[in-house]
Amino acid sequence: MTQDQAKELVGRRAAEQVEDGMRVGLGTGSTATMFIKALGERVKQGLKIRCVASSDASHRLGQSLGMEMLTFHELPELDLYIDGADEVGPGLALIKGGGGALLREKIVASAAQRFLVVVDSSKVVPELGRFPLPVEVIKMALPVVERKLSSLGLHPHLRRHADGAEYLTDENNYILDCACGSIPDPSRTAAAIRSVVGVVEHGLFLRMAGAVLVAGDQGVTELRA
Ligand code: A5P
Repeated sequence: MTQDQAKELVGRRAAEQVEDGMRVGLGTGSTATMFIKALGERVKQGLKIRCVASSDASHRLGQSLGMEMLTFHELPELDLYIDGADEVGPGLALIKGGGGALLREKIVASAAQRFLVVVDSSKVVPELGRFPLPVEVIKMALPVVERKLSSLGLHPHLRRHADGAEYLTDENNYILDCACGSIPDPSRTAAAIRSVVGVVEHGLFLRMAGAVLVAGDQGVTELRA
């Protein structure tokens, strides 16, 4: 099975978990996009749901599929949030934010009763940190935060587009991708990053995921917290 096939399979499986009347958080990224498209098919067949997305891109995708897309001002509580991840480690600790939406993703996850993660098997790791950890930073604080994260040994690099322009999040902040290499104690790393003034949010999602659906050659398996 290719990685794209695995993403489609797990996206479809996740869409089956959505029930009529649910308030659903829509994630961001290529796997979440597969989920949203599969969910869109169910909406076309008559499923009634209300949704909040974790990025402008997923909001627009939901709208284009005829889904009822709202904001937290209209729908501040969600039943279920479904999203991808860049890494899934022990205890269902996650690295997220490869697609740059970590801040809104964490907010949407925090507003949902249940957070279901969808990944292909390449994302499951014995220890977090091989994937660079994204940290969202207030623009004017960048030089200050960069120095402090460097002194913590986190090797931050400003995210840029292919043409060299700085990457900006939906909230108009920068992202520093931290080449940690290994994160043996995610809670400690999270606390250290959070202590730096000017950091808006980091991509460590700890004790948030309730379950992870993993697609691979054996089909879809479920990991539980
Ligand atoms: C978006 O900011 C991310 O957190 C994504 O959920 C994560 O990067 C996984 O994306 P893919 O499904 O595209 O690998």
